[in-house]
Amino acid sequence: MMWLITGGAGYIGAHVVAAMRAAGERVVVLDDLTAGRSDRLPADVPVVRGSVLDRELLGRVLAEHEVTGVVHLAARKQVAESVEQPIRYYEENVHGLAVLLDAVTAAGVRALVFSSSAAVYGMPDVDLVTEDTPCQPMNPYGETKLAGEWLVRAAGRTHGIATACLRYFNVAGTARPELADTGVSNIVPMFFDRVTTGRTPLVFGDDYPTPDGTCVRDYIHVSDLADAHLAAARWLADRPAPGDLTVNVGTGHGVSVREMAELVAEVTGHGGPVAEVAPRRPGDPARVVASAELIAKELGWSARHDVREMVTSAWWGWQRHRGQTG
Ligand code: WQD
Repeated sequence: MMWLITGGAGYIGAHVVAAMRAAGERVVVLDDLTAGRSDRLPADVPVVRGSVLDRELLGRVLAEHEVTGVVHLAARKQVAESVEQPIRYYEENVHGLAVLLDAVTAAGVRALVFSSSAAVYGMPDVDLVTEDTPCQPMNPYGETKLAGEWLVRAAGRTHGIATACLRYFNVAGTARPELADTGVSNIVPMFFDRVTTGRTPLVFGDDYPTPDGTCVRDYIHVSDLADAHLAAARWLADRPAPGDLTVNVGTGHGVSVREMAELVAEVTGHGGPVAEVAPRRPGDPARVVASAELIAKELGWSARHDVREMVTSAWWGWQRHRGQTG
């Protein structure tokens, strides 16, 4: 198969490219390079600079590279930004997907992996979130991912495309320092940012109904997430007939914000208080932990890396990109 990886120069996309290439798959990347960086990619991976909103470009790339499958990661992914710019999020995440699916259908591509999110669940009031837990997204970002899933499944059914929607939980870590997440919008880099600038990490609320009062999340190593894409791509490629699969990509294991702060203090070796309690951040669910049973059953995938490996590898990446060793 020849796979088009949209958003392949991004943090997660570059890990997907690496996993697929290591497994012998052929890939071409489409990325507008607004958040992605082509230096994350091996020199012999073709990179086309452009947007999934560009229908003509998509048609050309699919034809020229004789693409037979697509892994679609190109999207905007900041919750707060989505609240401020909902039209932009629907435009890029939903309309961009519609344009891509139109091109995919016209080109006769038969397999598509879609990057979805645990944000589709909103505030799930369950111990373990299964794929049957009701989807009630709480922000435009989560809405665009849920609408994207509907669109992917509908187009797949009508046009005979085998599809897989992967609902990522909280992604962290890096396979190699040069592939690291360079943004500061999630807990691990936010804690690194605090400890390397002489400030104490902030815990957003310690009065949640959880064992230590802080929010619990299911952190997944980006290398494991990349392997899940490979497993999904292979599952689609091997299917004799079109069909769809929607699965959580998580570990089934919850880690609290306080536990994360302790781990960050230990890994970075920074002295001083481990964390300081700040007010709750609006819209944060107390607990979001995946049931990882369906993906294990369907794709034979389960996570191999623990949260310590996530923080340790992310710290190597942080030091490389920030030039700070603390
Ligand atoms: C994790 C926990 C914070 C920073 C978001 C999106 C979700 C998904 C992943 C893409 C929360 C707490 C954080 C800090 C803190 N995105 N925290 N102090 O909000 O679980 O998920 O990213 O698919 O859709 O919503 O991730 O890393 O921001 O926060 O206490 O300095 O850490 O309150 O409980 P979140 P996060």
